[in-house]
Amino acid sequence: MRIAMIGTGYVGLVSGACFSDFGHDVVCVDKDARKIDALHQGVMPIFEPGLDRLVESNVRGGRLSFTTDLAEGVAGADAVFIAVGTPSRRGDGHADLSYVFGATEEIARALTGPAVVVTKSTVPVGTGDEVERIIRETAPEAKAWVVSNPEFLREGAAIDDFKRPDRIVVGTEDEEAAEVMREIYRPLYLNKAPLLFTSRRTAELIKYAANAFLATKITFINEIADLCEAVGAEVQDVARGIGLDNRIGAKFLHAGPGYGGSCFPKDTLALLKTAEDHQSPLRIVESVVAVNDARKRAMGRKVIQALDGDVRGKTVALLGLTFKPNTDDMRDAPSISIVQALEDAGAIVRGYDPEGVEQARPLMRNVAFADSPYAAADGADAVVLVTEWDVLRALDLPRLAAAMADTVFVDLRNVYPPEEVEEAGLRWFGVGRAPRG
Ligand code: UDX
Repeated sequence: MRIAMIGTGYVGLVSGACFSDFGHDVVCVDKDARKIDALHQGVMPIFEPGLDRLVESNVRGGRLSFTTDLAEGVAGADAVFIAVGTPSRRGDGHADLSYVFGATEEIARALTGPAVVVTKSTVPVGTGDEVERIIRETAPEAKAWVVSNPEFLREGAAIDDFKRPDRIVVGTEDEEAAEVMREIYRPLYLNKAPLLFTSRRTAELIKYAANAFLATKITFINEIADLCEAVGAEVQDVARGIGLDNRIGAKFLHAGPGYGGSCFPKDTLALLKTAEDHQSPLRIVESVVAVNDARKRAMGRKVIQALDGDVRGKTVALLGLTFKPNTDDMRDAPSISIVQALEDAGAIVRGYDPEGVEQARPLMRNVAFADSPYAAADGADAVVLVTEWDVLRALDLPRLAAAMADTVFVDLRNVYPPEEVEEAGLRWFGVGRAPRG
């Protein structure tokens, strides 16, 4: 199959590289000439484990190429994937579809033969209808089927998620289009990944419903964590106790500082807007968004309390700044709200992150960045583990304690057993466990 991938952001680049690895002939298109130049030189625009090698081997194999020329990429393609951004629209939280519609118009003009046009970008219900209308208006002669095919990739594990998906959702009721999609995903289908065909609107909604449900699961366990602290129970045992029930499942029950990232915050907001527009309120999701927002700043207050309610002039070191490990993505990271809360209360904040410093810098102008967790902790009154990078999972706690000026250790991801922290001479504060006496 010949595939054109429009947009070399996170989803487009990973999907394009994986499709080429399946043996398809893939052209990735992006307007940003600097990005395309960099890709030609093997430089990835994002940090994603394994992506550089995957791109390099498929470019070498002649199955993957990059261009800024959309018409060149689309000419002769069996399928054109739209994988451009759908950020939150400034002011109202609706998904901004201007990039999707702009790309659609250009694709319509560039089509040279029958093709399936696939929206991979996360788009609100009904967007496929609009994409179809734009194509009909721009190129009335073109033979194109518009299909929805949402992605479920986690940053940091995107290649594995792409190649070993729990399911592939394809929204089309047209048999010819379905056949093209079956052919594209055949390597996975052979591996028994369920290929679920639904109506286009249903596929669009599945993506939002999945993310809203996962965000709800996290937020649920985060509130239970607060209750655990109040009543003297252990959230990790509660999570295990409920997660062993197959109907609930053990995943996404890790209490922490709240979810962030490029998907959950934006998609839950966009889903609420869709619900509002259709007068079909989603009260549970509304609460999830509000509770999660409040939680991020509350984590800053937790640190302040651990320092006896007064952080003026005190130094706090945050370890791990990205919204989760194995990514350099800082979008809606809890660390941002924590830094704000601490600085508002007069603290001096230092930060350490293995990959995220470049993205963090403009978001945390007063934070001093260190090259190692120990350098960050040097002379600090408190150390806060915000994001559970592997390098932060095996800290030399006595060394950390020796470097610090005071002894507060706040573990927002419950990585360390309290006893181990205390043995190192530190005072332990965590999430979802009764405070230590
Ligand atoms: C998510 C979805 O998992 C993916 O299917 C979708 O396509 C895009 O959004 P991603 O944002 O990359 O992927 O990260 P994910 O691993 O899902 O984590 C999201 C956030 O939730 C992170 O901030 C993480 O720290 C937090 N989280 C996750 C928890 O706090 N507890 C958990 O148990 C799981």
